[in-house]
Amino acid sequence: MASEITQQFNPMAPEQLEDPYPLYARMRRELPVFHSSMFDLWVVSRYSDIAEVEKDPSRFSSAGALDARSEPHPEVLRVLQQGYAKFVSLVQSDPPDHTRTRAVFGKALSAHRIAAMEPEIRATADALIDGFIQEGRADLIQQFAYALPGYLICDLLGVPRSDMEQLKRWSDEKTLLMSATAPLEQQVQAAHGFIAMQRYFIEKLEERSKSPREDLLTLLVPQSMGGSAPLSHQEAVCNAMDLMAAGHETTTGLIGNGMGLLFRHPEQFQALRVAPELLPNAIEEMLRMEAPIVGFFRTVTTDTQLGGVSIPKGARLFILYASGNRDETQFSEPERFDIHRADAKKHLAFGKGIHFCVGAPLAKLEGRIAFEHLLRRLPNLRLHTDEAIVRRPYFMLRGFEHLPITWDLSAEG
Ligand code: HEM
Repeated sequence: MASEITQQFNPMAPEQLEDPYPLYARMRRELPVFHSSMFDLWVVSRYSDIAEVEKDPSRFSSAGALDARSEPHPEVLRVLQQGYAKFVSLVQSDPPDHTRTRAVFGKALSAHRIAAMEPEIRATADALIDGFIQEGRADLIQQFAYALPGYLICDLLGVPRSDMEQLKRWSDEKTLLMSATAPLEQQVQAAHGFIAMQRYFIEKLEERSKSPREDLLTLLVPQSMGGSAPLSHQEAVCNAMDLMAAGHETTTGLIGNGMGLLFRHPEQFQALRVAPELLPNAIEEMLRMEAPIVGFFRTVTTDTQLGGVSIPKGARLFILYASGNRDETQFSEPERFDIHRADAKKHLAFGKGIHFCVGAPLAKLEGRIAFEHLLRRLPNLRLHTDEAIVRRPYFMLRGFEHLPITWDLSAEG
């Protein structure tokens, strides 16, 4: 029943964290666009409706997409006012600001720059594997999938890898602040982290304006500071901050979710061992089957219709890529993992339209290299069944916190 679906929808419920896909299938069939009163969100589950939203930024705005729904508590605000209280970044902007900012990122993450990172990505993957290969077992997430993209974002920005943990903590505090549901004490602490992260990047941008380098931070230095970016100071700082969240745990999710799929489909795992050249398509299929970002937000700018449902101006949408990716009108046998699927690339895991993930080429390259090295160097790689698999309890992100793996020690590669 339709009303049952609206009440059942709760991405944080343990059974939906584990396997949300049967509910998504029912949503697409019975109630493709509905209002969830629990989250005050309009949930959009069909591929065609998600694509319609993504292609029309004037009707479906991204401005403030990740902002908290309520005003910050005065104590939190007092801390935030020590810096930029409002967060402005690429993913949360509409044209023309979006167009102006996207041009900076296009340069910073150009195909040429990304391709040049390949040796560094390979060396990082190898060094991480060297760190645990003699043990015969590891936690794939904590010892590999978390560090690889984290280090590479640091390299890309041009900050020391030793700052990764601190940057990640601040980035998590920024996320916590945006949900505004944590106890006040934690929110105040997170606000301090948010300001500390701003100060960190302000300092780095000042350093780069004096001595430019070959890094992304240099490309973000605004014209007002003598740099080349047509960005305000606030936009430069916020965009630098956002990269940590955008490019880190999303890729961790790809590696962990992808490995989880291979463990559940040993025949396809074997096909990849024999023919690693199948990896690029396998990665598209992993992204289709288990989108690391489950969905994203938009705000409706005018009273409108979507999927035959009337939605009022000001409503907030949650567009569920993870459901669109299994839409039976788009993919044949959508629940089947098939690394040979010819149209896997059509997935929505990187979004669509003007906000299509600007880091997708880097994420895919990291993913391909990660799997190549893990498969080549860890013989008979398999799930370590003595230890627990733990999922991360997040609303928007899908992935593992712990994924124990083991392999044969005899033939080190
Ligand atoms: C598998 C890994 C990744 C996934 C699944 C992913 C997913 C996404 C999605 C779904 C969007 C669109 C959001 C929307 O429609 O509003 C997006 C945008 C974005 N992503 Fe990624 N991403 C990944 C990796 C990365 C990496 C490695 C970087 C940076 C190096 C990055 C930077 C960005 C940025 C800056 C945007 C905003 C683009 C815009 O608004 O124009 N992402 N990503």
